[in-house]
Amino acid sequence: MDLSKSLSESDGTVSGMTSSVFNEVLKSNPYFAAGGGLMLLGTGLAVARLTVMKGATFVTRQMLVDLEIPSKDKSYLWFLEWMAQYKHRTSRHLSVETNYTQHDNGAVSTKFSLVPGPGKHLIRYKGAYMLVTRERSGKMIDMTNGTPFETVKLTTLYRDRFLFPDLLDEAKKLALKAREGKTVIFTSWGQDWRPFGQPRTKRLLESVVLDSGIKDEILLDVKDFLSSGEWYHKRGIPYRRGYLLYGPPGSGKTSFIQALAGDLDYNICILNLSESNLTDDRLNHLMNNIPERSILLLEDIDAAFNKRDQTEEKGYTAGVTFSGLLNALDGVASAEECITFMTTNHPEKLDPALLRPGRIDFKKLINNASQFQVKQMFLRFYENENELCEEFINKFARLGLNASNVSTAQLQGLFVYNKRDPKSAIEMVETLKNPNTHQF
Ligand SMILES: Nc1ncnc2c1ncn2[C@@H]1O[C@H](COP(=O)(O)OP(=O)(O)OP(=O)(O)O)[C@@H](O)[C@H]1O
Ligand SMILES: [Mg+2]
Repeated sequence: MDLSKSLSESDGTVSGMTSSVFNEVLKSNPYFAAGGGLMLLGTGLAVARLTVMKGATFVTRQMLVDLEIPSKDKSYLWFLEWMAQYKHRTSRHLSVETNYTQHDNGAVSTKFSLVPGPGKHLIRYKGAYMLVTRERSGKMIDMTNGTPFETVKLTTLYRDRFLFPDLLDEAKKLALKAREGKTVIFTSWGQDWRPFGQPRTKRLLESVVLDSGIKDEILLDVKDFLSSGEWYHKRGIPYRRGYLLYGPPGSGKTSFIQALAGDLDYNICILNLSESNLTDDRLNHLMNNIPERSILLLEDIDAAFNKRDQTEEKGYTAGVTFSGLLNALDGVASAEECITFMTTNHPEKLDPALLRPGRIDFKKLINNASQFQVKQMFLRFYENENELCEEFINKFARLGLNASNVSTAQLQGLFVYNKRDPKSAIEMVETLKNPNTHQF
């Protein structure tokens, strides 16, 4: 190697000299040359890999969209239900959801629906592929009802993002269609309201026979209340109205409220105040978080007034106290209307503080069967049998039966027993004398 030449080619500085010597070594030594090439290749590949990864993340960010539906949201169940019925999907993880329906006759039918379980599922919706990931958070538990928090994540291409609202809308419509013409009954579950069984077919108002004019009177009042929201707001009065239906057992109080809800297209939230695990706090929370378009039905409100007896007998029992009930009733104040129906068999036990307007604005006695009701009910069960109806009423009166001793539930029992035979019903009128008779 001609060192003097290479020295003369350098710019004369020390660094220039070093680099030129280094270049020479590289050029002339095949091992060094190969190593340098490999190094360059390695660096190049690493840069390329990083670029691809960043590019992929960029593309994912730019081209894919996610939609997260947490289990707290209403649309969560709608979506799972929708997906259970959706055909274009591949799921290898399924969960079962069992719904019980208790029919009026006491029979229970079960319905299983196979909803997508935790894991990944692929669906094709309107030509677009969507990845559905149902995840369960192992650590976080919803303290109000003890179930783990869950989310469903939908992922699709950015250009198909507008399909999300379509899909959710479809799921909602499907859920609402299942409820169409039906009344959803909510019961309390921890701090939450949960639908109780499947939505029930609406009970027709005509099927509840109350004494002359009572149904119309209540219906008119409720409708008038519902149409006067602005009137209440303008005057700063809380937009709520409390109704009390009192009377003997089996006179149709609960049935009427259910039929009324059906007629108004409302759902019902039922709370039984005699439940021993219902505390003041829970009552307050539940009453302030009622699902929209629902009537709140508080059954057996007298239960809040006889706590003292219970404590003597059973020691300490949790339960709603009188002041808890009053506070909860006063606290219910939302922009939405709030209709509260209360029922009791013992109006005499109620404290006057509960009966003041603002808490109970309308009260009505729903009594045992009057002659008017007996006639109506007979003709509902045995259409056009006017003569037999006369005969039935006469015998009924002759035996000394009247509104003070026969409930409409008993009458219904007699007519159901003799479904197609009005004559046999007439023969058996005597059995109504004993309210708890089982042997007709
Ligand atoms: N007035 C009525 N018209 C039609 N059916 C009635 C009537 N009263 C009672 N029934 C029938 O009797 C049964 C019990 O009625 P419901 O539960 O409405 O009574 P209730 O007044 O709420 O009784 P309780 O005070 O014990 O809660 C139901 O099956 C219902 O169909
Ligand atoms: Mg009842």
